[in-house]
Amino acid sequence: MKVAIGSDHAGYLMKEKLTAYLIELGYEIIDCGTDSEVSVDYPIYGKKVGELVASNSADTGLCICGTGIGISIAANKVKGVRAAVVHDCSSAKLAKEHNNANVICFGSRLIGDQTAKDSLKEFLEAKFLGGRHLRRIEEISEMEIDE
Ligand code: RB5
Repeated sequence: MKVAIGSDHAGYLMKEKLTAYLIELGYEIIDCGTDSEVSVDYPIYGKKVGELVASNSADTGLCICGTGIGISIAANKVKGVRAAVVHDCSSAKLAKEHNNANVICFGSRLIGDQTAKDSLKEFLEAKFLGGRHLRRIEEISEMEIDE
């Protein structure tokens, strides 16, 4: 399973730690940058991750910025992306089970490394529940037609 990872400068250190963690768990990584703590603009990285996921070049995406908010907004502008900012294991699991999120986002200034690791694992191992949740996701996809 391939995971596309991207962050801005605020998320860089967490990106490096989560990359090592994912490799340890056996995932393949596509690193979309950034590659240092030098200030950059998060939309670039949210877009890169989103495009890899939307084109099926990656199975799932992981985005990190200071709050997770800016980079999730950027990733969600790519058609087919459902990016969710989560702060704990419960929201991570539900983002997959109910929303079939294909990009998970963290705020490195808001949650610790261990919470991020645990939430990421929970997200990657969760399964979309379908049923009534599928109908709602289809309603979101319909908003993207003719955009
Ligand atoms: C960068 O300072 C910060 O604004 C960014 O990482 C993010 O939190 C934006 O949503």
